[in-house]
Amino acid sequence: AEAAAKLNAETIFGLVQVPASSKNGHATIPMPVLLKAGDLKGNPAQFAASVAKISTRDLKGNPAQFAASVAKIFTVGELITKVEQAAIYLNFHANQDFLTSSVLSAVLQQTDNYGSNGGQLGLGKKIVVEYSSPNIAKPFHAGHLRSTIIGNFIANVHRMLGYEVVRINYLGDWGKQFGLLAVGFEKYGSEEALNENPIIHLFDVYVKINVRCSEEATNDATIHDQARAYFQRMENGDESALAIWKRFRDLSITKYIDIYKRLGIEFDVYSGESQYSESMKDALAELKEKNLLTESLGAQIIELKDKKLGHVIVEKSDGTTLYITRDIAAGIERFNTYNYDQQFYVVAAQQDLHFQQLFEIFRRMGRENISEKCQHINFGMVKGMSTRKGTVVFLEDILKEAAETMHTVMKGNEEKYKQIEDPDAIADILGISAVMIQDMSSRRIRGYDFDWRRITSFEGDTGPYLQYTHARICSIQRRLSAVLSLEKDIYAADAAIDFSLLTEPAAHALVDLMATYHDVLLAACKTSEPCGVVTFALELSRAISSALDTLRVIDQEPAVQRARAALFIAARHTLSNALRILGLTPVEQM
Ligand code: ARG
Repeated sequence: AEAAAKLNAETIFGLVQVPASSKNGHATIPMPVLLKAGDLKGNPAQFAASVAKISTRDLKGNPAQFAASVAKIFTVGELITKVEQAAIYLNFHANQDFLTSSVLSAVLQQTDNYGSNGGQLGLGKKIVVEYSSPNIAKPFHAGHLRSTIIGNFIANVHRMLGYEVVRINYLGDWGKQFGLLAVGFEKYGSEEALNENPIIHLFDVYVKINVRCSEEATNDATIHDQARAYFQRMENGDESALAIWKRFRDLSITKYIDIYKRLGIEFDVYSGESQYSESMKDALAELKEKNLLTESLGAQIIELKDKKLGHVIVEKSDGTTLYITRDIAAGIERFNTYNYDQQFYVVAAQQDLHFQQLFEIFRRMGRENISEKCQHINFGMVKGMSTRKGTVVFLEDILKEAAETMHTVMKGNEEKYKQIEDPDAIADILGISAVMIQDMSSRRIRGYDFDWRRITSFEGDTGPYLQYTHARICSIQRRLSAVLSLEKDIYAADAAIDFSLLTEPAAHALVDLMATYHDVLLAACKTSEPCGVVTFALELSRAISSALDTLRVIDQEPAVQRARAALFIAARHTLSNALRILGLTPVEQM
């Protein structure tokens, strides 16, 4: 029953419980069975035939009695070796040898695609995922990091399951603060510093000009006026004003791309709030035409009080637009451009109200085709993310600190450290893995306290532990390749592997876990929750560790060696797939 809880009826390998029921004189037993476990080969007819023999005339009484009678008359066969009643459930026991050989051959044939089930689920469907979306000239904070990590995961899991995925980074690159930034740059800017690190320098300038504003009460008004006038020029399309802004934006994007690359993350589109000045006019006109606007103290607002969503200002009295106005325009334009089946906005829970308002506005515009396909993927706050210096945190500093911490941990084992080819690169990957796994370990909505000590340990539920397990099998694989031809003896479709030699419970436990991988991905895709995949990777790693303790691979009799090698190599591919879906780069050495 414990194993059964992990499996659903779509993967009837191993031990599966299905509820029995009798409706309209038909025996109903969910039976996607071997047929639907598309990763695996088998004969569905055998199972169907056994069920077909059951006539509802034989089945009477309540569900428990019904289950009991099915169990009694079910003809077991080559694939289903035993059926038992457990209260209202039926436990089907699959033939373990058959299970082992089908799962392991499937993994070894499909390697990087194992778990995708041929990409059936997303075939012909398109999704848009908007994530990361930092603000130029402001720090890339923990919320942006979470959005980046979770958004990347959602994109990856969908792509694995066959969806076409468009990844959008919607930058905060518009608004009065860019007028202020331009004014600030005239006073405090340095070309050299800008080219050196635009993200840090622009933030620096932005902080300085803000301090100046608040310090000098007399100057206050002038600087603000200048900033407002500057932004007005930008909104009116003044080329010289736009040129400076565009430089800031381009340089920042170049720098972002660098940092994302380090994280192993890419975007198809760098968009941003600045891109909608034209379509915003259309959106406002549409809102007006559909009678959704009311005037209030010179501003244009949308009343959403009846839905307990307050009211939304879409145009200020001075004619300037707001964050939500840009989202309305962007939402419409995106739908027209991509004609997606689903769109995900991966943004902190602080913006719950904003997205409820946005989707409600689409609904009122009669654009249910947008509102129904959009989902806000929210998440809780991270507390205490800081470097040792404890200053404002830039993503780069966090990555640097993570890598340094990992480097120190690695140096603890001097023997091993000496053998690592590129310790800096490995430390970098391990640091990122630590940060990412901590972030995805619980349900999204739960926030957490950032904890360097806990996340960088090689033991426990950490990124480095997952990487360590992966690297361990890689090292065995390297040693094996001296005595086996992996190509011919393990991966070849006709490799002579006797899977029935894998009789130990530790081997079966590994196989049973691997058999559930596709279902784990399906659940993650449905809920947009990475934690299920993290849990899977951790359980698989623990199962690998205990199997490695009892099942030796080196110095074994050849047939046993081949079977065990197949087991561990298949486990490594499955782990590697899960790690890559989570956004980690699996390491082969550490
Ligand atoms: N730049 C925004 C921020 O940092 C996040 C953007 C979220 N996406 C959106 N479509 N509104 O808060």
